[in-house]
Amino acid sequence: MTALAVENVSKNFGGVSALANISLNVSRGERRILLGPNGAGKTTLFHTISGAVTPSGGRITLFGIDITRLRPDRRARLGLARTFQITNLFPRLTVLDSMLLALGGASGHSLQLIGSPSGYRSEYDKAHQLLEQWDLVGTARRVVRTLSYGEQRQLEIALALAGQPRLLLLDEPTAGLSPAETRRVVSMVHALPRDMTILMIEHDMDVAFELADRIAVMHQGRLIAEGDQAAIRANKQVTDIYLGAD
Ligand SMILES: Nc1ncnc2c1ncn2[C@@H]1O[C@H](COP(=O)(O)OP(=O)(O)O)[C@@H](O)[C@H]1O
Ligand SMILES: [Mg+2]
Repeated sequence: MTALAVENVSKNFGGVSALANISLNVSRGERRILLGPNGAGKTTLFHTISGAVTPSGGRITLFGIDITRLRPDRRARLGLARTFQITNLFPRLTVLDSMLLALGGASGHSLQLIGSPSGYRSEYDKAHQLLEQWDLVGTARRVVRTLSYGEQRQLEIALALAGQPRLLLLDEPTAGLSPAETRRVVSMVHALPRDMTILMIEHDMDVAFELADRIAVMHQGRLIAEGDQAAIRANKQVTDIYLGAD
């Protein structure tokens, strides 16, 4: 079953063709990595999938439903969650409050429910359990801006998971992390339910090859290669780009 179908999607910014007829199919439960040098259009493609950017042309379907022009919150309700290349947390909230907010947003009944003591208790237990699951429970009372950058990236993924998404988009979750922090993010991804579909932008080849079922490579707004690890490693255009840039 196809989780995500991107069909001939284009996006122009003034004279710049950020996306030129991109077509991509990701199956349910697949772990797909998107590679490509800076400026290739990877983040813009994520924006068109999440709804932050409307494509100039083409069509995007999520589990068979046309979402091309749907509002971002409607897409979230269909099971889409994403993290950002630059972290997108509220710096003054505690980790626990951030998780409570994410859970409220995910269930759509946020503040009313938290307003009742029993409702608060059940959301609180859920938040605690999720922080424990993702190895963040020790940071629950801390204010987000005092966390290390690595912990912030981990938290961001944990928050995206609060709504139990069916499709998770991760934009360079390991960028700027130490090798140890990178390992933690990689093991988080390994620990995700096998039926969750993941599309992840990654610049680190080792991480990409470790996690990917299939890899797609973008360059200058185009999809230039798609395949498993062996096919990507053997692709002359891909190796040329990676020896030449990044
Ligand atoms: N909002 C925008 N306005 C104008 N140009 C943009 C905008 N967003 C991205 N671009 C341009 O689109 C191209 C692709 O950018 P981006 O999707 O961020 O690439 P990547 O994530 O692969 O590094 C770049 O040339 C970038 O400058
Ligand atoms: Mg980017």
